[in-house]
Amino acid sequence: MARPSSSNSSQWTDRDHLVRASPNRVYCADCLSVLNVLPPRVFDLAYLDPPFNTGRRQVAAGGTYGDSWRNLDEYLGFMRDRLRAVHRVLRPSGSILLHCDWRCSHHMRLLLDEVFGAEQFVNHLIWAYGLGGSSPRRFARKHDDVLFYAKGPDYFFKPPMVPATSNRMKGKLKKAGDVLHVPAINNMALERTGYPTQKPLTLLSMLVNACCPPEGTVLDPFCGSGTTLVAAARTNRSYIGVDANADAVRIARRRVEEEVVLMAMSH
Ligand SMILES: C[S@@+](CC[C@H](N)C(=O)[O-])C[C@H]1O[C@@H](n2cnc3c(N)ncnc32)[C@H](O)[C@@H]1O
Repeated sequence: MARPSSSNSSQWTDRDHLVRASPNRVYCADCLSVLNVLPPRVFDLAYLDPPFNTGRRQVAAGGTYGDSWRNLDEYLGFMRDRLRAVHRVLRPSGSILLHCDWRCSHHMRLLLDEVFGAEQFVNHLIWAYGLGGSSPRRFARKHDDVLFYAKGPDYFFKPPMVPATSNRMKGKLKKAGDVLHVPAINNMALERTGYPTQKPLTLLSMLVNACCPPEGTVLDPFCGSGTTLVAAARTNRSYIGVDANADAVRIARRRVEEEVVLMAMSH
């Protein structure tokens, strides 16, 4: 197997060293090949935002990636292999957040039941993103799904606090429910990289803070433009990101490097 290229010149020899002593890397590879050589039980949180099986190529100014499989079984086989590999590298107290949408969320729920166990289900989160068109034929599709499973009973969770909406609680914060109202990235947003299907930093910061302990380690095997890695770096968590697409890896590395510079300047 070819060694994944890493963001610096360190060798891919000592597997434990890779995560425990030298985290904060972005690898360009099929995530399965990286997951298979990582040591077991090292990550506190895995966030996965894989292609959703839309049947078309995702194209934008900053890159393009394939999102079609010959049939549903082939897609589910692809996901099953990678979910099993993620399960192996999570700590006993670790969790997974799997981002998907209406096309496959029902299949993903069953796959996660199979790999993690149905009793390990924690939440079916709704990311209500607001933007997008409407249809005269159905209710407008304005949300994605994020499935939250824990590897074992002692998982970390710190509820995010969001502004209360009731008159009684006006001006106060309350624990977030399972519907997360975070706007999608608009065309003018400063964080926009141009990479297709980039997720907002506000959403990933909320998820990382809620589901990864302080100073814990985050894995994103489909990291795209690196949003999860930036959220982890910003909050003093370690990270490993993987993407099969060289444009994604270039953007993700640039973003985390910029983050390090910004953090150094603010100290
Ligand atoms: C939905 S995008 C991730 C977007 C990311 N969350 C962000 O905020 O930019 C899915 C990514 O999965 C990557 N991908 C597809 N197959 C892969 C594989 N086998 N291994 C690693 N990455 C893969 C694609 O290149 C794409 O960048």
